[in-house]
Amino acid sequence: MAKKIFSGVQPTGNLHLGNYLGAIKNFVELQNEKDNDCIYCVVDLHAITLKQDPKELKNNIRETAATFIASGLNPNESILFNQSLVPAHSEGSWILSCIGRMGWLNRMTQFKEKAGKDKEKASVGLYIYPILMAADIMLYDATHVPVGDDQKQHLELCRDIAQKFNNDYKVNDFLVPPEPLIQKQFSRIMSLKDGLKKMSKSDASDLSRINLKDSNDSIINKIKKAKTDANPIPSNIEELENRPEAENLIGIYSNLKNQNIDVTLKEFGGKNFSEFKNNLSEQLIDKISPIASEINKLLNNSDYLDKILLTGAEKANEIAEKKVKEIKKIIGF
Ligand code: TYM
Repeated sequence: MAKKIFSGVQPTGNLHLGNYLGAIKNFVELQNEKDNDCIYCVVDLHAITLKQDPKELKNNIRETAATFIASGLNPNESILFNQSLVPAHSEGSWILSCIGRMGWLNRMTQFKEKAGKDKEKASVGLYIYPILMAADIMLYDATHVPVGDDQKQHLELCRDIAQKFNNDYKVNDFLVPPEPLIQKQFSRIMSLKDGLKKMSKSDASDLSRINLKDSNDSIINKIKKAKTDANPIPSNIEELENRPEAENLIGIYSNLKNQNIDVTLKEFGGKNFSEFKNNLSEQLIDKISPIASEINKLLNNSDYLDKILLTGAEKANEIAEKKVKEIKKIIGF
């Protein structure tokens, strides 16, 4: 069945393998499935919930758009735009912030992680960020949202907001509660240094992640240094239990090769990690380096990227503005 897809990525620099395997790779697959309507957004309004340097932010917006395109998103098939060009996101977010409840936001684990110990000093934007995300999705009546595992709770909140709005205003099915599309096996790519920690752009150690713009030498070096354990690679999935680093590396390899973990374990079971790591580096270079070189090529043509984002924003604006008008009518403006 045709799906209406919406998803977003923050332009905060250093997009990494987790963003690619957990989200962007799926964006492309969904675009290439017949009949889906796909909208992919560079969520720059979300980025400023933490302080950004204006010049860097501008570059990062272009770089995120370049990453979308270099990974296979086609601006003629999907709508690609950046959020701040479409005023309906801010407007819709305000209205939905009057529907969302403090108690719901207080449960968001990502806020707790990002705000850290000094919650009092976090921006209000960081706190209400899931509301903006709900507006992003529901302004387009998106039915499905491809994301990594860390966004699951935000999508549940989005569904709660849809239900409360529809109940409060007695408008059955007006806001569409979206379904998350989270891959079972690869929804959480973990740090190369600690298999219990998510791969993240905010990790202080660059060795913890593969950035999409890493050179081949850097990829080889990072995989060589990636943490493993002393045992050889097992032949079946059960034996991966309690071996988080092994599980993560095997998962990454399987994902890159689009094959089941079982197949990978059959290939490498009983062998040691050094041989496996050579193969993993090869796979990564095979998949990542064409993306990196395409990103760099696209970044040399910022006018082209700006034009794509602007054209996408015009299309997005048409849809989102209409929905906000309907929302306003329902609430009595
Ligand atoms: P962001 O920018 O932090 O991450 C972008 C996407 O990458 C996924 N991801 C991962 N997946 C697997 N393993 C990892 N280690 C990993 N790290 C990141 C994230 O789950 C995400 O799918 N709030 C969102 C952006 C957003 C959005 C939206 C998404 C704003 N509005 C509307 C969907 C729909 C975020 O900050 O993602």
